Amino acid sequence: MSTDIVKVFDTTLRDGEQAAGTRLGAREKLEIAHQLAKLGVDIIEAGFPISSPEDFQAVELIAKEIQGPTICGLTRAVIKDIECAGEALAKAKSSRIHTGLGVSDIHIAGKFGDEKYGKTLEAKKDKTIEMGVNAVKCALQYTDDVEFYCEDSGRADKEYLCRMVKAVIEAGATTINIPDTTGYAIPEQFGNLIAGLIANVPNSNKAIFSMHCHDDLGMSVANSLAGVKNGARQIEGTINGIGERAGNASLEEIVMAIRTRKDFFNVETNINTKEFYRTSRMVADLLGMPVPANKAIVGANAFAHSSGIHVDGFLKERETYEIMLPEDVGSPKSAVVLTARTGRHGLKHRLEELGFTFTADELEQVYQKFLVIADKKSEVFDEDLVALMSDEIRTIEHHFTLEYLKVICGTEAPKASVKIKVAGQENFATADAGGDGPVDAAYEAIRDATGKSPKIESYSIKAVTSGKDAMGEATVKILDGENRRFTGKGISTDIIEASAKAYVDAINRMVAK
Ligand code: KIV
Ligand code: ZN
Repeated sequence: MSTDIVKVFDTTLRDGEQAAGTRLGAREKLEIAHQLAKLGVDIIEAGFPISSPEDFQAVELIAKEIQGPTICGLTRAVIKDIECAGEALAKAKSSRIHTGLGVSDIHIAGKFGDEKYGKTLEAKKDKTIEMGVNAVKCALQYTDDVEFYCEDSGRADKEYLCRMVKAVIEAGATTINIPDTTGYAIPEQFGNLIAGLIANVPNSNKAIFSMHCHDDLGMSVANSLAGVKNGARQIEGTINGIGERAGNASLEEIVMAIRTRKDFFNVETNINTKEFYRTSRMVADLLGMPVPANKAIVGANAFAHSSGIHVDGFLKERETYEIMLPEDVGSPKSAVVLTARTGRHGLKHRLEELGFTFTADELEQVYQKFLVIADKKSEVFDEDLVALMSDEIRTIEHHFTLEYLKVICGTEAPKASVKIKVAGQENFATADAGGDGPVDAAYEAIRDATGKSPKIESYSIKAVTSGKDAMGEATVKILDGENRRFTGKGISTDIIEASAKAYVDAINRMVAK
């Protein structure tokens, strides 16, 4: 039996961009649309063309440039909106018009005045069905892919909702959106609503039912999934869950729930989940809405382990505390974040990763000192551990000492000279060398003078104090012939000197080993 596909309708550029305090220009929307195409969404709702000339332009640009997904524009059930969307979408290879209106009694009574729409609620309801049907017919003049939204379905009268859905499918709508516009629904109840519509609307088999949920009560993802479980075959949402008020359902959460719990949902999506992390960061940057660290799937802590029991279990067997692989969502690999609650096993693991070997006694000693630092800082970094190990636990004998360094650089190729004291020898070891840059030249000279050529795995420099005369701290990780890692640090107000000291420090650790 083949598995059903659930289509993914992304509305980051329309409903997502309606989040308070955000605005995207047409070019920024296009950049995100390219990434959404890479992510593999089936439909991109690019905007609400009649809402502003810039949004019209954005939809037009995306329709022209983006290949792959269907490009969609939002309208009210108003003829001039639909004509405008039709025009903006004209160049799309595959286009959709998303039209509709409010269907709950609260929306109908509150939005539609007596004069134009009828004096009673019943009269207004008849009128809105007529408007919905006319909107679908009008949209069909521009595309055969018409989606109809029944706004505020979460609070609508079910019998009327069935009438509306039947009428717009009859008129030619091929996707029926059942939004929980106000985030009012409860998963069990919303799932039953979808099941009821599919069972009771006589022509329901001619359309795909879509979930569009908002997060006012924090249940948008659960409500969307309840719809899928009950027969909906399209989900709508935004990257990072951004959107009006508390936001829309987060696409990455729905898709990963479907994927991780395929045993329960037995459906699939076309999404390339490895693009989630990249997409999330792009949306966060362009909209200026950072992703909270604890955000499911894409937050910085989504794959970080910190407490002793978790770290211990995770290091023994990843599956004890992880239900997804970070690489499956394109996230940096799982991390053990060292805090006061990490425990000995986590600390031992990290020290080994940094290339240290130690006795049980030494580990206990480091652990006690580590706790003192961890109680002062929210997170203990690799650099802190290196300093702790080198300065307090194991003062290594310095086989090589950098006595003199001169680097000439400018418009000519950089040149470096070093003088190194070697323990137990009277004469200095000296060398001159060139390189691609001043640090490279200094490193080449150090290699010549010491006769050691370890592979450099990584190099970084950061300011440890502020101001013009800030101290620079260089960290170099090297690998010996057996791929053992040694980390060296150097501090100086001159970043080239700091870099050279760090390299010599790393070589000393290697030699001491
Ligand atoms: O939340 C909602 O009802 C909407 C519709 C316009 C689809 O965003
Ligand atoms: Zn919405």
